[in-house]
Amino acid sequence: MRLIITKNYDELSKKAAEIIAETIKEKPNAVLGLATGSSPVGLYKELIKMHKDGEVDFSKVTTVNLDEYVGLSGEHPQSYRYFMNENLFNHVNIDKNNTYVPNGLAEDAEEEGRRYDAKIEELGGTDLQLLGIGNNGHIAFNEPAEELVFGTHLTDLTEETIKANSRFFASIKDVPTQAFSMGIGGIMKAKKILLIASGEEKAEAVKGMIEGNITTKLPGSLLQLHHDVIVIVDEAAAKLLSK
Ligand code: GLP
Repeated sequence: MRLIITKNYDELSKKAAEIIAETIKEKPNAVLGLATGSSPVGLYKELIKMHKDGEVDFSKVTTVNLDEYVGLSGEHPQSYRYFMNENLFNHVNIDKNNTYVPNGLAEDAEEEGRRYDAKIEELGGTDLQLLGIGNNGHIAFNEPAEELVFGTHLTDLTEETIKANSRFFASIKDVPTQAFSMGIGGIMKAKKILLIASGEEKAEAVKGMIEGNITTKLPGSLLQLHHDVIVIVDEAAAKLLSK
């Protein structure tokens, strides 16, 4: 793992955006694995700025998102499809037909998982997978558990995650309790991984991910097994790291 510690969230966002922009410059038809949540908002803003300045061209880029809430359509303001449209896709020259997010309304969960993984295979795999990390160490919606799932699957969200994500909903009762999530296999198959984490509430997960033993109880720790991971954290998220 290559670790970069930045002063603050702004610097983190700029560094992460540069890495993504570099990937697109090297391979204009790159397949980007994208993430939602608060963490990537700043880097998406940077990418939009770079695009408007003529520095990044998304016309040949394909994106595959990590996850989607079960029961929410892409028009729902809290859906991850909506988030991606609002925070990135609507502001750059990407062809929306080349942007993939699991279908939160799929009736047959197993079929949806198979379909999504087959799509990623068909695209030739992910060149760069962007990740955030949950306070409890989850990546995508692979929650801490005895066992983790390889492929895209339907999963129950933990109480902790429902609580953490309730900040985006009118009430905690509105937070979906299940989601479709890319599995650990789908994440680990990416050629390169870029994980970002900001703020003190991530410090424990960041420490476990980087310095702890590899355990399904902290899914981010599995990234220690990947050969090309860049972790960018700000000083607050790095505060429990020993070195
Ligand atoms: C969410 C998402 C993850 C995200 C994580 C952290 O539940 N499923 O993909 O990385 O939790 O979110 P945030 O960046 O808002 O802290």
